Amino acid sequence: MNANGQNWPWMQFNDYNLVFLTIHRKERFICMKKFTYENILHAKELNVYLEQGNNVLGMLGYTEHTRKHAAKVAVTAGKLLKKLGYDEHCVELARIAGYMHDLGNCINRMDHAHTGALMAFQFLRDWGAPPDDIARIITAIGQHDENSGTAVDPISAALILADKTDVRRNRVRNPIRETFDKHDQVNYAALSSKLKIDVSKKTITLTIELDEAICSLMDYFEIFLQRMLMCKRAAELLGLRFKMIANGNKIC
Ligand SMILES: [Fe+2]
Ligand SMILES: [Fe+2]
Repeated sequence: MNANGQNWPWMQFNDYNLVFLTIHRKERFICMKKFTYENILHAKELNVYLEQGNNVLGMLGYTEHTRKHAAKVAVTAGKLLKKLGYDEHCVELARIAGYMHDLGNCINRMDHAHTGALMAFQFLRDWGAPPDDIARIITAIGQHDENSGTAVDPISAALILADKTDVRRNRVRNPIRETFDKHDQVNYAALSSKLKIDVSKKTITLTIELDEAICSLMDYFEIFLQRMLMCKRAAELLGLRFKMIANGNKIC
């Protein structure tokens, strides 16, 4: 029972806690001088959770999900929207969503898009971001996983296209080839992958070079079909046709 005669012991410290939280948030906000992608890259607390997510996925046998993946997705998502003529603010929000999109992996791989969106919400509010911007960023994060999401606006579409096409050999962490799982196999086989927009032809093309001694095109599609369909839908939302060229062959 607290001082007010209520059965909630924590209420006793309620006033103190509120003061403490206010100061704490203010400190974080001061650290984030301006709410920009460049500043977010250096947000220490955010980076701790991103690295933890990467460690968790490493233990579970997933490919690399470091800040390198986060930054690559951020830059690609921003470039896509910029090339399509979206305003600088929208481009910046896509970059921020891209950098933060895999935060939820530090809780659990399952539903990481949803938990990540909630974590991002907390960060963005602490940083004093406007609600309109927060809403657009958390929507994109919450929609980025192929098991539960889809493109619903330009920012989520750009994030999906940037994330699902980040296939490359150096994302594989398992050093023992004999024990590669299917995802390792495909990523290891990817000698190069490029995403290119042709604004005049209204196409976005993923060109991928696969070492077919390691992974056949059929294997690639077996693993990534759902992701490629998600890319197709995201491209359509941006008014583009998704095309894919693998080892010089037009796939779609
Ligand atoms: Fe993810
Ligand atoms: Fe990702």
